[in-house]
Amino acid sequence: MSAYLDLAEPEPEAATDGVWLTCIECGERFAPFDAIRYTCDDCDGLLEVRYADLPTWDDFGGGSPESGPYGVWRYAAALPFDEGVSLPEGDTPLHYVPGLEEETGVNTLRVKHEGMNPTGSFKDRGMTVGVRVAEKVGVDRLACASTGNTSAALAAYGARGGMETLVLLPDGKVAAGKVAQASLHGARILEVDGNFDACLDIVQNLAERGEAYLLNSLNPFRLEGQKTIGFEIMERFHADEGTYPDRIVLPVGNAGNTAALYKCFRELREAGAIGEDDVPKLTGVQAEGSAPMVEAVEEGTDEVRRWEAVETIATAIRIGNPVNAPKALPGIRETGGTAVAVSDDEITDAQRSLAAEGVGVEPASAASVAGLRKLREEGVVDADEDVVCLTTGHLLKDPDAAYEAGSKPEPVPNDTEAVLRHINDSRSVVETVRRGGSKAADAPLLALIAGGLGLAYLYRKLRSNE
Ligand code: F0G
Repeated sequence: MSAYLDLAEPEPEAATDGVWLTCIECGERFAPFDAIRYTCDDCDGLLEVRYADLPTWDDFGGGSPESGPYGVWRYAAALPFDEGVSLPEGDTPLHYVPGLEEETGVNTLRVKHEGMNPTGSFKDRGMTVGVRVAEKVGVDRLACASTGNTSAALAAYGARGGMETLVLLPDGKVAAGKVAQASLHGARILEVDGNFDACLDIVQNLAERGEAYLLNSLNPFRLEGQKTIGFEIMERFHADEGTYPDRIVLPVGNAGNTAALYKCFRELREAGAIGEDDVPKLTGVQAEGSAPMVEAVEEGTDEVRRWEAVETIATAIRIGNPVNAPKALPGIRETGGTAVAVSDDEITDAQRSLAAEGVGVEPASAASVAGLRKLREEGVVDADEDVVCLTTGHLLKDPDAAYEAGSKPEPVPNDTEAVLRHINDSRSVVETVRRGGSKAADAPLLALIAGGLGLAYLYRKLRSNE
């Protein structure tokens, strides 16, 4: 396990305005903006942004969640700058989901919908900080590898900051909405004949050669923005429920968010803003076809084995080599959390259930709810727990998956009477679909099966009377 995750270290000479970078593997410390570096010069370990002063609740906005400013920059006291290249981002809803709360049988269930950010995913929180750093270090070409959302956010924030953007995508494996965003915001899109991990290898090589500034979550400043998800959850949940959540369940791909949330909790602990018992259990969810983190958690190893072949409907988390694992695995373990893998069918089911409560998410996001369901069934999550599920991207990101999971349009004649007849004829089907998600959508099929069984029974009965 990484040795240098403890935040209690003296401010080094290298610090600028109380900010520096520490290698989590060897403890070496660096100036934050004097050179472009993504990993440790000495051992290539992951870097973490550190601060001489860690803020507490009173330092955020007016000290109450009701008082602005809202969004990522409300938490400027915990970030390296006072403001960034902003659209603006953050301040996403923490939805009540009474139906799912009852069904999963936990004490409280809230859904933090990160799909409500400007480009429709949590990546915007990282980009507002990351693109600000790019300005500071004086680069003008930004690049990332992406399963789609990072590329959409990079393209939008790069455009906002007036910088050139280059995105590397796994050919044919990125949802339509995300490619459309990257394209319209003016990114140069390179489709690689390989998966996300191969794209990341290439873009890292380009960045090392000084061809572009890397804005994947390997860049420690991205995670600073993303840790504000944690601040928002803790503040809002406490204001509404009078306590902090016991557990946060989130989808895991490159494990950047898991790492960012763990950093948020370590900082709040170090600042004395929360106690040890207040830290939520970080619980990661991956798709069965792409679950190297789950494998490492189950086997209790520190090394995450790279999966070369990965596949899932949740293309956003179709990742076999989670680069932030050295930061995220300790987060899962130290907070008493766990990791679980879910099938594509379970993901689609959860996507429908969220949609039935009005919360539209892309498949990767629904993995969190699918994971919670599974962990409740397995008895890992208790009935008395207060849980937050993170939904990371908006439904419209992947219109094809949404269409496949949803009810289908019905062709009708261009005539009011005919439309009325059609509605009344199919009312029973429409009503069941409206009433309840996935199982309801199977109602016509179930009716057919039941009818078939009935006929078979009658036929056998007649034959036996002959
Ligand atoms: N959910 C969504 C919708 C995502 O787009 C991603 C990652 C994740 C979850 C996983 O988050 O990597 O922090 O564990 N998408 C990246 C991308 C890889 O390129 O858009 P993580």
